[in-house]
Amino acid sequence: MENRIAVYPGNFDPVTNGHIDIIERAARIFPKVVVAVAASREKRSLLFSLEERVSFLKDLYQEHTCVEITSFNGLLIDFMKQHNAQVIIRGLRAVSDFEMEFQFALMNQQLAGDIETLFMMSRSTYSYLSSSAVKQVIRFKGNVSNLVPACVENALWAKFHG
Ligand code: COA
Repeated sequence: MENRIAVYPGNFDPVTNGHIDIIERAARIFPKVVVAVAASREKRSLLFSLEERVSFLKDLYQEHTCVEITSFNGLLIDFMKQHNAQVIIRGLRAVSDFEMEFQFALMNQQLAGDIETLFMMSRSTYSYLSSSAVKQVIRFKGNVSNLVPACVENALWAKFHG
Protein backbone atom coordinates (compact mmCIF):
# COMPACT_ATOMS: atom_id res chain seq x y z
CA MET A 1 0.00 0.00 0.00
CA GLU A 2 3.06 2.35 0.38
CA ASN A 3 2.48 4.43 -2.74
CA ARG A 4 -1.18 3.80 -3.27
CA ILE A 5 -3.43 6.79 -3.76
CA ALA A 6 -7.08 6.29 -2.92
CA VAL A 7 -9.78 8.59 -4.26
CA TYR A 8 -13.04 9.13 -2.38
CA PRO A 9 -15.44 10.74 -4.87
CA GLY A 10 -18.86 12.23 -4.23
CA ASN A 11 -21.08 15.24 -4.46
CA PHE A 12 -20.74 16.08 -0.75
CA ASP A 13 -23.80 18.35 -0.81
CA PRO A 14 -22.91 18.81 2.00
CA VAL A 15 -20.29 16.59 3.63
CA THR A 16 -21.68 14.74 6.67
CA ASN A 17 -20.11 12.93 9.60
CA GLY A 18 -20.79 9.69 7.68
CA HIS A 19 -18.49 10.83 4.86
CA ILE A 20 -15.91 12.01 7.39
CA ASP A 21 -15.92 8.61 9.05
CA ILE A 22 -15.13 6.97 5.69
CA ILE A 23 -12.36 9.51 4.90
CA GLU A 24 -10.72 8.95 8.27
CA ARG A 25 -10.87 5.18 8.07
CA ALA A 26 -9.49 5.24 4.52
CA ALA A 27 -6.65 7.51 5.66
CA ARG A 28 -5.62 4.84 8.17
CA ILE A 29 -5.17 2.36 5.31
CA PHE A 30 -3.77 4.51 2.49
CA PRO A 31 -0.86 6.98 2.71
CA LYS A 32 -2.84 9.45 0.63
CA VAL A 33 -6.59 9.93 0.26
CA VAL A 34 -7.83 12.39 -2.34
CA VAL A 35 -11.38 13.56 -1.70
CA ALA A 36 -12.76 14.42 -5.14
CA VAL A 37 -15.82 16.67 -5.16
CA ALA A 38 -17.91 16.29 -8.32
CA ALA A 39 -18.45 19.65 -10.03
CA SER A 40 -21.98 18.84 -11.13
CA ARG A 41 -24.73 16.30 -10.61
CA GLU A 42 -26.85 14.93 -13.44
CA LYS A 43 -30.18 14.03 -11.86
CA ARG A 44 -30.75 16.45 -8.99
CA SER A 45 -29.72 20.03 -8.38
CA LEU A 46 -27.20 20.87 -5.71
CA LEU A 47 -27.80 23.15 -2.73
CA PHE A 48 -24.19 24.26 -2.33
CA SER A 49 -21.86 25.55 -5.04
CA LEU A 50 -18.73 23.60 -5.88
CA GLU A 51 -16.63 26.21 -4.05
CA GLU A 52 -18.76 25.84 -0.91
CA ARG A 53 -18.66 22.03 -0.98
CA VAL A 54 -14.89 22.04 -1.42
CA SER A 55 -14.35 24.69 1.24
CA PHE A 56 -16.18 22.71 3.97
CA LEU A 57 -13.83 19.80 3.34
CA LYS A 58 -10.76 22.02 3.11
CA ASP A 59 -11.63 23.61 6.47
CA LEU A 60 -11.82 20.18 8.04
CA TYR A 61 -8.62 18.80 6.54
CA GLN A 62 -6.29 21.80 6.33
CA GLU A 63 -3.89 20.22 8.83
CA HIS A 64 -3.98 16.69 7.43
CA THR A 65 -1.20 16.21 4.91
CA CYS A 66 -2.44 12.76 3.90
CA VAL A 67 -5.91 14.02 2.93
CA GLU A 68 -6.13 16.20 -0.17
CA ILE A 69 -9.32 17.97 -1.22
CA THR A 70 -9.96 18.69 -4.86
CA SER A 71 -12.74 18.73 -7.44
CA PHE A 72 -13.35 17.02 -10.75
CA ASN A 73 -15.46 17.35 -13.84
CA GLY A 74 -16.19 14.56 -16.29
CA LEU A 75 -15.40 10.89 -15.84
CA LEU A 76 -14.02 9.76 -12.50
CA ILE A 77 -11.74 7.31 -14.27
CA ASP A 78 -10.05 10.16 -16.20
CA PHE A 79 -9.48 12.00 -12.93
CA MET A 80 -7.99 8.82 -11.43
CA LYS A 81 -5.56 8.44 -14.33
CA GLN A 82 -4.51 12.11 -14.15
CA HIS A 83 -3.71 11.64 -10.45
CA ASN A 84 -2.06 8.26 -10.88
CA ALA A 85 -4.58 6.83 -8.41
CA GLN A 86 -5.43 3.15 -8.26
CA VAL A 87 -8.28 2.79 -5.77
CA ILE A 88 -11.78 4.26 -5.60
CA ILE A 89 -13.26 4.29 -2.09
CA ARG A 90 -17.03 4.05 -1.74
CA GLY A 91 -19.09 3.80 1.43
CA LEU A 92 -21.95 1.31 1.72
CA ARG A 93 -24.63 2.26 4.21
CA ALA A 94 -27.22 -0.43 3.58
CA VAL A 95 -28.23 -3.08 1.06
CA SER A 96 -30.12 -0.37 -0.82
CA ASP A 97 -26.80 1.27 -1.77
CA PHE A 98 -25.51 -1.95 -3.25
CA GLU A 99 -27.26 -2.05 -6.60
CA MET A 100 -26.21 1.42 -7.68
CA GLU A 101 -22.68 0.97 -6.35
CA PHE A 102 -22.36 -2.40 -8.07
CA GLN A 103 -23.34 -0.86 -11.40
CA PHE A 104 -21.01 2.07 -10.86
CA ALA A 105 -18.05 -0.16 -9.92
CA LEU A 106 -18.57 -2.47 -12.90
CA MET A 107 -18.85 0.45 -15.31
CA ASN A 108 -15.61 1.90 -13.96
CA GLN A 109 -13.98 -1.53 -14.17
CA GLN A 110 -15.05 -1.78 -17.78
CA LEU A 111 -13.58 1.68 -18.47
CA ALA A 112 -10.31 1.00 -16.66
CA GLY A 113 -9.62 -2.57 -15.59
CA ASP A 114 -6.57 -1.68 -13.48
CA ILE A 115 -8.50 0.60 -11.12
CA GLU A 116 -10.16 -1.11 -8.15
CA THR A 117 -13.21 -0.02 -6.17
CA LEU A 118 -12.96 -0.67 -2.45
CA PHE A 119 -16.15 -0.63 -0.37
CA MET A 120 -16.19 0.33 3.27
CA MET A 121 -19.21 -0.39 5.44
CA SER A 122 -20.60 2.71 7.10
CA ARG A 123 -20.38 2.81 10.84
CA SER A 124 -23.81 1.77 12.17
CA THR A 125 -24.25 5.21 13.80
CA TYR A 126 -24.33 6.74 10.32
CA SER A 127 -25.98 4.01 8.27
CA TYR A 128 -29.22 6.02 7.99
CA LEU A 129 -27.53 9.33 7.26
CA SER A 130 -27.68 11.19 3.94
CA SER A 131 -27.06 14.75 2.83
CA SER A 132 -30.72 15.11 1.78
CA ALA A 133 -31.97 13.95 5.19
CA VAL A 134 -29.76 16.52 6.91
CA LYS A 135 -31.07 19.27 4.62
CA GLN A 136 -34.64 18.26 5.32
CA VAL A 137 -34.15 18.28 9.09
CA ILE A 138 -32.50 21.70 9.12
CA ARG A 139 -35.15 23.11 6.80
CA PHE A 140 -37.65 22.44 9.57
CA LYS A 141 -35.19 23.70 12.21
CA GLY A 142 -34.28 20.30 13.64
CA ASN A 143 -30.97 19.59 15.36
CA VAL A 144 -28.19 18.16 13.16
CA SER A 145 -25.22 19.03 15.35
CA ASN A 146 -24.21 15.38 15.80
CA LEU A 147 -24.57 14.62 12.07
CA VAL A 148 -22.49 17.31 10.35
CA PRO A 149 -19.43 19.41 11.26
CA ALA A 150 -20.11 22.86 12.77
CA CYS A 151 -19.05 24.73 9.60
CA VAL A 152 -21.66 22.79 7.60
CA GLU A 153 -24.37 23.25 10.22
CA ASN A 154 -23.78 27.02 10.21
CA ALA A 155 -23.85 27.18 6.41
CA LEU A 156 -27.08 25.16 6.29
CA TRP A 157 -28.75 27.49 8.78
CA ALA A 158 -27.63 30.48 6.75
CA LYS A 159 -28.92 28.92 3.52
CA PHE A 160 -32.35 28.00 4.86
CA HIS A 161 -33.02 30.59 7.53
CA GLY A 162 -30.87 33.56 6.56
N1 COA B 1 -22.37 8.71 5.09
C1 COA B 1 -23.40 9.53 4.87
N2 COA B 1 -23.99 9.70 3.68
C2 COA B 1 -23.51 9.00 2.67
C3 COA B 1 -22.43 8.12 2.81
C4 COA B 1 -21.86 7.99 4.09
N3 COA B 1 -20.85 7.17 4.31
N4 COA B 1 -22.19 7.57 1.63
C5 COA B 1 -23.07 8.07 0.78
N5 COA B 1 -23.87 8.94 1.41
C6 COA B 1 -25.01 9.65 0.84
C7 COA B 1 -24.72 11.06 0.44
O1 COA B 1 -24.97 11.94 1.52
C8 COA B 1 -25.69 11.26 -0.70
O2 COA B 1 -26.93 11.62 -0.16
P1 COA B 1 -28.02 12.42 -1.02
O3 COA B 1 -28.40 11.52 -2.14
O4 COA B 1 -29.08 12.62 -0.03
O5 COA B 1 -27.36 13.69 -1.47
C9 COA B 1 -25.79 9.88 -1.33
O6 COA B 1 -25.39 8.99 -0.34
C10 COA B 1 -24.88 9.64 -2.48
O7 COA B 1 -23.74 10.47 -2.32
P2 COA B 1 -22.20 10.26 -2.61
O8 COA B 1 -21.57 9.19 -1.85
O9 COA B 1 -21.63 11.63 -2.48
O10 COA B 1 -22.13 9.73 -4.02
P3 COA B 1 -22.73 10.40 -5.17
O11 COA B 1 -23.73 9.42 -5.69
O12 COA B 1 -23.20 11.75 -4.85
O13 COA B 1 -21.45 10.53 -6.07
C11 COA B 1 -20.19 10.32 -8.04
C12 COA B 1 -21.45 9.96 -7.27
C13 COA B 1 -20.00 11.80 -8.15
C14 COA B 1 -19.01 9.72 -7.35
C15 COA B 1 -20.39 9.67 -9.41
O14 COA B 1 -21.61 10.10 -9.96
C16 COA B 1 -19.29 10.00 -10.41
O15 COA B 1 -18.17 9.53 -10.31
N6 COA B 1 -19.59 10.80 -11.37
C17 COA B 1 -18.67 11.15 -12.44
C18 COA B 1 -19.09 10.55 -13.76
C19 COA B 1 -18.58 9.14 -13.93
O16 COA B 1 -17.42 8.83 -13.89
N7 COA B 1 -19.51 8.22 -14.20
C20 COA B 1 -19.12 6.86 -14.56
C21 COA B 1 -19.70 5.85 -13.68
S1 COA B 1 -21.31 5.39 -14.22
